[in-house]
Amino acid sequence: MIKTGIDKISFYVPGTYLALDTLAEQHGIDPAKFAAGIGQSKIAVCNHDEDVVTMAAEAAAAILDIEDRAAIATVLFATETGIDQSTAASVYVHKKLDLPSRCRAVELKHACYSGTAALQLACGHVTRKPDRKVLVIASDVSRYDLDSPAEATQGAGAVAFLVSANPRLLEIEPVSGCYSEDIMDFWRPNYRKTPLVDGKYSTMKYLGALSAAWEDYADQGGRAFNELAQFCYHIPFTRMAIKAHKQLSHQNQAQNDPNLYEPGLRYNREVGNCYAASLYLSLVSMLETAEADLTGRPVGLFSYGSGAVAEFFAAVPQADYRAGLLTERHRGLLDDRRALSYDEYLGLWHAPDPQDGSATTMRQGARGRFRLAGIEDHKRQYEAV
Ligand code: CAA
Repeated sequence: MIKTGIDKISFYVPGTYLALDTLAEQHGIDPAKFAAGIGQSKIAVCNHDEDVVTMAAEAAAAILDIEDRAAIATVLFATETGIDQSTAASVYVHKKLDLPSRCRAVELKHACYSGTAALQLACGHVTRKPDRKVLVIASDVSRYDLDSPAEATQGAGAVAFLVSANPRLLEIEPVSGCYSEDIMDFWRPNYRKTPLVDGKYSTMKYLGALSAAWEDYADQGGRAFNELAQFCYHIPFTRMAIKAHKQLSHQNQAQNDPNLYEPGLRYNREVGNCYAASLYLSLVSMLETAEADLTGRPVGLFSYGSGAVAEFFAAVPQADYRAGLLTERHRGLLDDRRALSYDEYLGLWHAPDPQDGSATTMRQGARGRFRLAGIEDHKRQYEAV
């Protein structure tokens, strides 16, 4: 069978964040609760002129050259934070990136899982048309109610990857284990800006879904636990992945070794949850920060979307994969950010939301090339600077 997988990968995060020590101080909480109990130090916060489209365009623009653009046959945009009930965010990005009009561009949704659905669809597409490429973008803004237990697990970011035949970075292996169940652990009715979440129940369902997806993966002929050199998990907050790995080790009568997941936590600890993008941010973190060369050594990936769908699968880093990573750019994006005061954070949390068609201009805040200039006549106006 033809080898398919990730040829290039990049992420983008806003240039502003809230340090969780600031949130802890504001709420009179022991900062160790967030640092150790939740496992997060910062949460990325969007400016008013940033949204899933601008972050997606920033992430994707960093990996596309002229040849890639010409070969892209499909754009799959995975998000929980859609900006329209009907039209797809993918078409805005398609336009901003100047992609060929002979292309399909659609949006996929399933809470935090849809990036994986997009990846699997893309691999299937490329198997049928090996000379074409699929651009997958996962982009989300995780925003919970203020003063709720979930507030510390917010975040924002986008990951873009190009799926192709004979990929330079990672082969995605065809075996995967899946699990679906109709549950109400985290959901967002159309009339709400923030999700409803049964927090403790969601963590329990996440772990149950991991166990079930792993069992299916094993039944489908997947790799043994001890063949996997690293593990990346969906990361709503890094402590969740730590618990996940402890459980999976136990399920396989293996020693719980933090070295097998720690590289995949590093970037997420500084960014927070970015729903569909979180697993793939963890993947970039693992590839770019693991000390060992992972060439030819399969890594396990676990994707979870509340509601719920879960999948376990494996990817194999290709020869010279490190040369294809954008490590310097990504570290720069994480390091070159500004900490917000609590009041600034509140101001950004309450983003303008005109619903009557009146013209609203967004204050300049985005650090990238793409920004949401305003909303007028119910239409979002994007500009590239
Ligand atoms: N020092 C160290 N640790 C401390 C501490 C301190 N001073 N104070 C508390 N802690 C620990 C607690 O002991 C607890 O640890 P354990 O998990 O080991 O029991 C941990 O900090 C969390 O504290 P609480 O039990 O008090 O929990 P909370 O009220 O802060 O809520 C939460 C935690 C339920 C995860 C909440 O943040 C939430 O609802 N988050 C959103 C939902 C979510 O992310 N679910 C994850 C699974 S669903 C999913 O993955 C999809 C998705 O992206 C949403």
